[in-house]
Amino acid sequence: MSDIIRIGMLGCGTVGQGVLRILHETAGTIERATGHRIEVVKVLVRDLQADRPGVDPSVLTTDPEEILGDDSIDIIIEVMGGVDPTHDWLLRALGHGTSVVTANKQLLARHGPELLAAAEEGGSELRFEASVCAAIPVIKVLRESLLAAEIDSVMGIVNGTTNYILSEMRGNGMSYADALAQAQDLGYAEADPTEDVGGADAAAKMAILCSIAFHTRVLIDDVPYSGIDSLQSEDVDIASELGFVMKLLGVARLVDDAVSVRVHPALVPADHPLAAIGGADNAVLLESSMVRQIMLVGPGAGGTETASAVVSDVLSILGSRPGSFLGGALADAGRPMAADDALESAFYLRLEVADEPGVLARVSSVLGESGVSILTVLQRGEGDSARLVMILHRSPEAQVAEAIGRLAEMPEVTAPPVLIAVVGSGEAPR
Ligand SMILES: NC(=O)c1ccc[n+]([C@@H]2O[C@H](COP(=O)([O-])OP(=O)(O)OC[C@H]3O[C@@H](n4cnc5c(N)ncnc54)[C@H](OP(=O)(O)O)[C@@H]3O)[C@@H](O)[C@H]2O)c1
Repeated sequence: MSDIIRIGMLGCGTVGQGVLRILHETAGTIERATGHRIEVVKVLVRDLQADRPGVDPSVLTTDPEEILGDDSIDIIIEVMGGVDPTHDWLLRALGHGTSVVTANKQLLARHGPELLAAAEEGGSELRFEASVCAAIPVIKVLRESLLAAEIDSVMGIVNGTTNYILSEMRGNGMSYADALAQAQDLGYAEADPTEDVGGADAAAKMAILCSIAFHTRVLIDDVPYSGIDSLQSEDVDIASELGFVMKLLGVARLVDDAVSVRVHPALVPADHPLAAIGGADNAVLLESSMVRQIMLVGPGAGGTETASAVVSDVLSILGSRPGSFLGGALADAGRPMAADDALESAFYLRLEVADEPGVLARVSSVLGESGVSILTVLQRGEGDSARLVMILHRSPEAQVAEAIGRLAEMPEVTAPPVLIAVVGSGEAPR
């Protein structure tokens, strides 16, 4: 690479404008540290007239060929989002030896292995720190610092919107709908929050994290997910009384060398490191027998925060040669996906039952017959009905599912059972 690094940028919205601002403000530092001067030579947009304060209009174009067809461009920054046409464009650039930095989690979670293979063939680099947890340097830590640490579990609060909503439900007793409306007012949640609250956004991020942590190919379709949109605030409250905190968690672990990964609401003990992550922050807890626990915490979204991760990827490319060992960080170890019946979990179970003598005994006996034992029971009567809340000991999930199916059919059980996984080092608060 010459002293001047020529950059083409695809997109100039919230993140793109942040990238231009950071590159401008830190140009001197970058040149002193790397010996390179960075020049953004072309920026692709749809609408040339849109308001972009501080952006030099002469670099803007609506013609992608001015970037993709320009062999003098060293690095392409993709901050336009979407899977089409970015997929074809980035494959082409990487295949021609142009390194790419992207913030696009949906693209990576669907086509990451294919793009990394194109980079390997083209002798280019693909970097995507900003695609997961914005400013938190978790991909870099996994790809570089912990490459040989044999990570065996990755647990994360990887969606800030849902963490904000759950924190407000717990801390301020808000309903789900009110907390969501407040998150939208404050700009934490999109006008259409489906991807966030339904768990799809977190699933895309977990697919990327898991691929890098376990050196294997995991795509978004491999990640079952459920969100917080059907959670009842009473379960958040009862969990809190029992010493737990409700979180939307991404949980990935190796089970007999197979990969188990999913996203779901979960209870964590109040003294668990992830329980303390409030507001819209993100956190990723990495575990390995070599390093025990490492937790990374910080802002998981925001234009400047995301842009800072994009710029840091550009600098990493300047600091490493194409074809170095980093390019092979996803070298496929060929791990299979773990079968669901291989998994064990502890659970929170809430049952609404008729307030009759012997109900608790009958419920306990159904659970016992399925080999599921009870750690804690909370029983409350309200008129003719009663509420049973239980923390179930860690058991094979298939056995718990069978027991819940039988409980749901008992005439004394008056509403569908609510079952939420309990995740953490123990099954109950220490
Ligand atoms: N915002 C965040 O906090 C955040 C956090 C993490 C990751 N990300 C990721 O970063 C990427 C960018 O997000 P953003 O918030 O900056 O989006 P944005 O504000 O909507 O900006 C998108 C930019 O791309 C341009 N664009 C979109 N489609 C195009 C097309 N087909 N041809 C040409 N230009 C096109 C738009 O042009 P116009 O300006 O002409 O409309 C705009 O400049 C996404 O992948 C997103 O998931 C964002």
